[in-house]
Order: sequence, then C-alpha cells, then structure tokens
Amino acid sequence: MNAEALLERELERFEREHPRSRELAQEAKGPLLSGVPMPWMIRWPGGFPVFAAEAQGARLTDVDGHEYVDFCVGDTAAMTGHSPEPTVRALREQAAKGITLMLPSEDALWVGRELTRRFGLARWQFALTATDANRFAIRLARELTGRPKILVFNWCYHGSVDETVVTLRDDSVVAREGNLGPPVPLDETTRVVEWNDAEALQRELAHGDVACVLAEPALTNIGIVLPEPAYHDTLRAATRDTGTLLIIDETHTICAGPGGYTAAYGLEPDLLTIGKPIAGGVPAAAYGFSARVAERLEALLPVDERADVGGIGGTVAANVLSLAATRATLAEVLTDEAFKRMIALGERFERGVSDVIERHGLPWHVTRLGCRVEYLFRAERPSTGSEAAAGGNALLDRLIHLYALNRGILLTPFHNMALMSPATTEEDVDLHTEVFDEAAGELA
Ligand SMILES: Cc1ncc(COP(=O)(O)O)c(C=O)c1O
Repeated sequence: MNAEALLERELERFEREHPRSRELAQEAKGPLLSGVPMPWMIRWPGGFPVFAAEAQGARLTDVDGHEYVDFCVGDTAAMTGHSPEPTVRALREQAAKGITLMLPSEDALWVGRELTRRFGLARWQFALTATDANRFAIRLARELTGRPKILVFNWCYHGSVDETVVTLRDDSVVAREGNLGPPVPLDETTRVVEWNDAEALQRELAHGDVACVLAEPALTNIGIVLPEPAYHDTLRAATRDTGTLLIIDETHTICAGPGGYTAAYGLEPDLLTIGKPIAGGVPAAAYGFSARVAERLEALLPVDERADVGGIGGTVAANVLSLAATRATLAEVLTDEAFKRMIALGERFERGVSDVIERHGLPWHVTRLGCRVEYLFRAERPSTGSEAAAGGNALLDRLIHLYALNRGILLTPFHNMALMSPATTEEDVDLHTEVFDEAAGELA
C-alpha cells in the first residue's frame, strides 16, 4: 500500500480508538490556546494529542485505557523511566520539609561533587531548565570574553535560547523558520556553521568576536549526526587558539553514559550544561565550569548587583526540592549499572531496526548514541545538520509515528527517536521491532 493510503487508514483507526482523547481535545479549545498547554503538543500525529492518564516506568496509559511502551520518555526528560521510586521517595520526603527556601541545602554539595565525578568540571550552578542553563552559560561567556557573539551549528537545538533559533540560508545567518518574535536580526548575535565543517569553523572563529561555541557533542535534534573522528580535536583547538570558550550541552547526549559524551570521549569543555532527566523529570538543570573558568568567575561575581540582577538566576532555581530529586536520581536511578543495561538495550533496538531495513531493502538507516536510537529515511548517514534535514520525510515520519502509536508504542514526535530507560525491557524493544517490521512490510 502507498504511504498516503496507509496514513489515511491509520488516521481512521486512531480516531476510532481514542474517543475520550478526542472529546478532551475538543473541550481544551475552551481554556487553552490552540487546545494544548504547550504549542508543541499539537505536533503529535493523529490530529489531536492522546491525553495521558498515568505513567510508570517505561509504560504510559491514556484516558481511553490504551497502554503504550514509551520510547519518547518526555523527549529525554523522563529518561529515568516515569516516576522512579527513589526520586518519588526523595520528593515526598523533601516536600514535607520545605520546597523552596532561598538557602542552600546539603544536597547541593552532594550533587555538585557527583557532577564533578561524572563530567570532570570543577564547579557547578543550578537552574530549572536546560534552556536557562544555556542562557546563563552564554551570558557568563560574554562577560568573561567581552565579545558579543556566539557560534552554533546549523540545525542545532538548545532550547528556546534567542541566539540559537537560527539557521543558514544561502550562507547567511537568519532566524530559523518558525522563530517567533526574534529580538534582533540573528546575524547580530550568532555565527552558524555546518557540523563537521572544520574550515568554516576556523574561518568564523577567526573574526575574534565569538564569546563561545555552544555545541551538542553530537547533533541529536535533527536525527543523530555524529562527529567525524577528529572533529572534537579541531573544535577544541580552534576555540583555544581564538580565545573562545567551549560550552558542551549534554542535555540529550547524557545517553552516551553516566558522564555523557564528555566523559565517554574525554572532551575538555570550558563550560557544560545539562537539564531534562537529571531529577527524573522534575524541573532541574546544572551548568558547570572548568577550574580556570570558575576562578575567573569567582573574581568577578561577588558584587551585590552582579549576584542579584546580573541577568542570571530565578527565584525558584536551585530550590531544595529539585536538588533532592537530582540527588536521588543520580545516586539511585541513572547509575553506572543502569547505563550498561540501557546501552545494551539500545544496541538491541539498533540491530532490530537495521535487520528490518536490510530485509525489506529500504533506503533508510539507523544511528545510535549510547541508549538513544534514531532512524532516518535516507540511505546515507548524514555528516551535517543540513544533510540530515534534507533526509526528513514529513509523510513517512507522520505515518511511522501513528502506525507505532496505534500499536502501543510512543516515539518522540519531532523525530524517529527511541530512548531506553532503566525500566525498558528486551520485550519492549522487540515489540517495536515487530511493529516496525510490519510497517516496513506494508510500505516496501
Ligand atoms: C540539546 C538540548 N539542549 C537544551 C534543550 C532545552 O531543554 P528544555 O526545553 O528542557 O529547557 C533541549 C531540548 O530539547 C535540547 O535538546
């Protein structure tokens, strides 16, 4: 059957089998803008979002009583599995003893030490979201270097950070399609180069006006685009040679291991940011500094105004509830042992998908980074964000997501991403392989 006809059939099935979600979606158009609490929720396939009833571990149940194996896990924010027991326990205990105090608790020290053990950076600060961690890291990099711009990679995503919602069009830096209300033309704040393009990186940094490069160590938000073998050496050398700070954003690449890509591949960033799963899905984020950067910041910051209205912070940032949840999650959920299991499941998922692609002779491929697996509807592995974007296929994306959803599997809506949590099982992975095989069989 062709993809359009299959999509039509799957849409009918979705409508038929989700009457309560449809009813709620209709009602939600009253109190909620566009009928959803956040705009990206309209991007689930099927015409209206599935309304969640509850979730536990790697399973989610909707209001129509369907149970799903969840490989989306809150687009990494619930990579711990939903409501892991140690995190819930810590939340319950801490919530009864104070939620936000404007004073440090001992958990902050424990978490700081643990982040140093994992990622190697000397000192840490806390925020509530990875977006904020990135915003604060960028501000500090500007302050330290006295330079106005940042550099990011084409098709990157680092949250809703003004300077980063940007793209290259005919070699010019412009606001990315969909960017709402950019404050200034983006070429005033940002330089953009393609991932893995060493020459462009060196050329753009040579201007001497870039405070920091903000990079995921592998692109993960336009499919997975891995670095070519020497690219991180080039990136580190080029930033050091030009006095540019290097910020590594590990928010998604924590999938590579307990210390993210940085520890797994021996990177030496000046600053590192992370958010999403570190507190099991409770809002929490961290940003860390090398000893050298920390020393320079500590000379700068102890001034009342800078500590208060410096453009960094948030009244409820570093609250004791988030830090208790972070401690429990790092100590008992996202452990070294859990990562071993999760990565082995990632390998099983990758093998399953790769076998199906080969058996049906489809011009697709699959890529894995630790426990994160992603398939793309093009034969060759991309080496830049633009190549990955060109391999996108909106029709197939929608079809595969809906096909999987109708058969009890949730994939991340914005890409064909599956993430293994500590609660995911081999049976869960094999169910996906079966469903993917069935879809591929119908399409081939
Ligand atoms: C690499 C990366 N950094 C930062 C963010 C922002 O995270 P949040 O939306 O939780 O602020 C995201 C979100 O997808 C991300 O993928």
